[in-house]
Amino acid sequence: MLKKVVIVDFGSQVTQLIARSVRSQKVYCEVVPFNKFSLKYIKNENPVGIILSGSPLSVTKRGFPSIKREIFFLGIPILGICYGMQLISSALGGKIKKISGREYGDTSIRVIKNSSICPNNWKTKTKHNVWMSHGDSVKTLPKNFISFAKSNNENFVGIANEKMKIFGLQFHPEVTHTKDGKSIIKKFLFEVCKCKSQWNMKKFKKENITLLKKKLVNKKVICGLSGGVDSSVAALLLNKAIGKRLLCIFVDHGLLRMGEKQEIHNFFKRKSNFKFISVDASKQFMKVLKGVTDPEKKRKLIGKEFIKTFDKCANKYKGIEYLAQGTLYPDVIESRSVTGAPSATIKSHHNVGGLPKKMNLKLVEPLNTLFKDEVRILGKELGLSDNIRNRHPFPGPGLAIRILGEVTKSRLEILRQADKIYIDLLKKEKLYDKIWQAFCVLLPVKTVGVMGDSRTYENVCAIRAVTSVDGMTADYYPFDQAFLKKVSNNIINKVKGINRVVYDTTSKPPGTIEWE
Ligand code: XMP
Repeated sequence: MLKKVVIVDFGSQVTQLIARSVRSQKVYCEVVPFNKFSLKYIKNENPVGIILSGSPLSVTKRGFPSIKREIFFLGIPILGICYGMQLISSALGGKIKKISGREYGDTSIRVIKNSSICPNNWKTKTKHNVWMSHGDSVKTLPKNFISFAKSNNENFVGIANEKMKIFGLQFHPEVTHTKDGKSIIKKFLFEVCKCKSQWNMKKFKKENITLLKKKLVNKKVICGLSGGVDSSVAALLLNKAIGKRLLCIFVDHGLLRMGEKQEIHNFFKRKSNFKFISVDASKQFMKVLKGVTDPEKKRKLIGKEFIKTFDKCANKYKGIEYLAQGTLYPDVIESRSVTGAPSATIKSHHNVGGLPKKMNLKLVEPLNTLFKDEVRILGKELGLSDNIRNRHPFPGPGLAIRILGEVTKSRLEILRQADKIYIDLLKKEKLYDKIWQAFCVLLPVKTVGVMGDSRTYENVCAIRAVTSVDGMTADYYPFDQAFLKKVSNNIINKVKGINRVVYDTTSKPPGTIEWE
C-alpha cells in the first residue's frame, strides 16, 4: 500500500502549500478536513506521519476545532504548524495566551537547542529568518516537551517531544519566505517519519490505469474534451484503461483562439484506439450571445448552451454510465469549507472540460488527487504534446469573456489576431513558460490615433500577463519596456482594428485574472 502523510486542515490559507511541499519531496500526501480525521480514518489509511495545519481560528475560543486526544498517543509522528502547534500544546497540557501585537511576516528567531527536525545549519545560538502570522502563542509547554527555538519576543517558536515524535512550529515552513522551511519538512519526512522519496507520475499512471480498469469493467464513459491540459490528460489516462469504451466530445463553441481547434484535432484524431468526435456549434453559440454585454449573462448562456450541445450528441450513444471530468485536487480541497464560511460568487465558472452532474451519469475524476504541475508531468508520461501540455490555462467561456461588450465575429477575429501576435512573441522571447497566464483583451472603447498621415479611430487592446501558483492570487508580470514596445508595435501595425495597446498592472486581488 502507498505510504502516505496526512495533512489535517484547520482552514489555513496555505494548507495547499504544505501538501505541495510534501509532494515536492516525492512523498504522497492527502489533505483531510479536521472533522473527517478520525481514529477510523487512521486505521483505514495507516498514515506514516501527520501534519496539523494552521487556522484562522484560536484554541483560546470555545468550541475550537480539534482532533481526538488519543491520536497524539498512537506513536505516529506529528508536526503541528502555527495553530497546529498550539493545538498540540493545549491537548497535552500546555497553556496558550494571546500575544500583545502579532508576530507577522519575516521574523528573526534563534535556535536554543537541537531537535531532529532542525536543518543542519540550525546550530545552537544561530539566528534564522522565518515567516510568521499569529496572534496566539504557547505560554507553558506541555510536560516533557522542550523548546528548540524562540522569537525575539521570547515566544516559543519550535517545540518538540522527541520520544513521542511530536513537533510544533509557530512559523510556516511551507511558505517560500521561510528560507529553511524545505529542509525542516525534509527532516520531518525522511528522518522522523522515515518516508522514502518514491512517489512519482510514472507510478501514479500505472496504479491508476489498473484502478480504472477494475472500476470500469465493461462500462462506457463520456468525456468533454476542451483541449486544455486537465481534460486532455484525464482522457488519455482513461483511454489507456478502457480504450474505445471512452468517447471524447470536443465542442467548438467558436470562441477558441487561433489554430486551437486544429491543434486539438491533429493530436487526438490521429490517435488510433481513441474515440474522438468534434461538434461545430459555433453558429448556435453566436446566436445566443447576440446583443449580450453583461459578463455573468454571457457566462451563464455559454454554460447552458454547452450542456445542451453536449447532451444532444451524448444522447446519440447508448449505454453510457460515466462522465469523466478533469477535476484537480485544489478544486476538491477548496470545495470543502473547513471553517464553514461560505464564499461569495465572484464569477460563475464554467469549465468546458468539466460538466455538471445533472446528466444522471456517475462521475469518474482520475486527476482529483493531483495538482496542476503534477498533471502536466503525467501528461508527459502519457505522450501529450508539449504544446497542449504546457499551455496557459484557458477559461471555458473562451474569448467571449475577453471581448468586453458584445461578442461578434469581427471582434473575435481582431482579438484572435492580436492574441496570436502576443503569445508568439512571448514564446520567441522565451517568456511564455515564466508566465502563468497571458492573453489579450479587446475593450469596448475606441480611441483616436494617427497612422501615416491619416487619423484612425479604432479599438483598444489590453494585454495581460500574470504570475501565480494556482490562479487564486496573482501578480502582473514585470515586462521590460523593450518587450512591451515590441508587442504594442506589432499588434498596432499588423491588426486592422486596433490602434492602441495598454498593459494591465492589476494584481489579484483586488482584480481577477480575466476581465469578465
Ligand atoms: P479569475 O478571472 O477568476 O480566473 O481570476 C482564475 C483562473 O480561472 C480561469 N477561469 C476559468 N476557467 N472556466 C474555466 O475553466 C471559467 O469559467 C473560468 N473563468 C476564469 C482564468 O482563466 C484563470 O486561469
